[in-house]
Amino acid sequence: MKKGILIALLLAGLAMAEELPKGPGVDLVYAKCQICHDLTYPLQNAGLSEADWEGIVDDMIDYGAPINEEERAVIIKYLATYLGPNPPPAEEAATAETTATVDGKAAYAANCAGCHQAEGQGVPGAFPPLKGNPVLVKDATYPALVVLFGLQGQIEVNGAAYNGAMPPLGHLDDATVAAAVNHVLQTFNAKLLPKDFKPLTPEDVAELRKKALSPAQVLELRKKLLNP
Ligand code: HEC
Ligand code: HEC
Repeated sequence: MKKGILIALLLAGLAMAEELPKGPGVDLVYAKCQICHDLTYPLQNAGLSEADWEGIVDDMIDYGAPINEEERAVIIKYLATYLGPNPPPAEEAATAETTATVDGKAAYAANCAGCHQAEGQGVPGAFPPLKGNPVLVKDATYPALVVLFGLQGQIEVNGAAYNGAMPPLGHLDDATVAAAVNHVLQTFNAKLLPKDFKPLTPEDVAELRKKALSPAQVLELRKKLLNP
């Protein structure tokens, strides 16, 4: 794990928003395969066989990718299907998408925990804590903007400094973004939340998405929240 974080820091650059074909497991690939590098490597290798993808994923685990047995199987299945020798046509993939209501805990686990850790505790010096983080409760739209557009530059959380880059996760649908952010606020920051807090709705996220900010502009917003 330590080694993985080190590599993550060395390679931490701002990943460009690259689109993967939609299909079961795609969220896990977005969450786990951008920790150390962007998606150029997997996209460039489209067409590989299942055995080849298995070898690559195991190499990444050796490099320190935080992927458990269950996730490994889902990721390999996704890569072998959608970046494999015979990918299904795009329409077919789109209908395989679920429209069920999104569970916040699951949305957080699949898309955020790889970096911010299961309980939102973060990793000192690398990934800021989302638990007990007073900046997040000042305005619920701020964490949603970070998820949609990323964040880059020096920040401080409870006296500890971070200077990394969070890649934009704008590929996540509105319901997933709302569910993950509400989980962060209501589960990890329950004590800090104002009494009149209203959870974000997917419609709120759809509105925020129109802003099309850069990660640096999101950092400016953070500064304004702290020094209104
Ligand atoms: C812990 C860090 C880390 C994570 C997480 C990670 N990779 Fe990598 N990946 C690397 C490193 C290091 C290299 C080699 C970089 C180089 O040669 O410049 C690499 C290279 C690659 C390559 C190029 C082929 C090769 O073997 O060198 C592919 C394809 C790839 N990664 C796919 C993935 C996929 C798919 C995932 C998600 C399952 C993933 N990576 C997650 C660290 C990581
Ligand atoms: C690939 C790693 C990675 C993933 C995945 C990730 N983050 Fe982040 N996140 C970061 C980094 C790094 C920072 C700090 C950036 C900086 O130093 O400017 C950050 C910062 C944040 C912040 C701002 C904290 C503050 O004090 O201003 C929020 C909010 C946040 N992330 C929420 C999330 C949520 C919610 C998810 C899942 C939907 C998520 N992140 C997924 C790496 C990640």
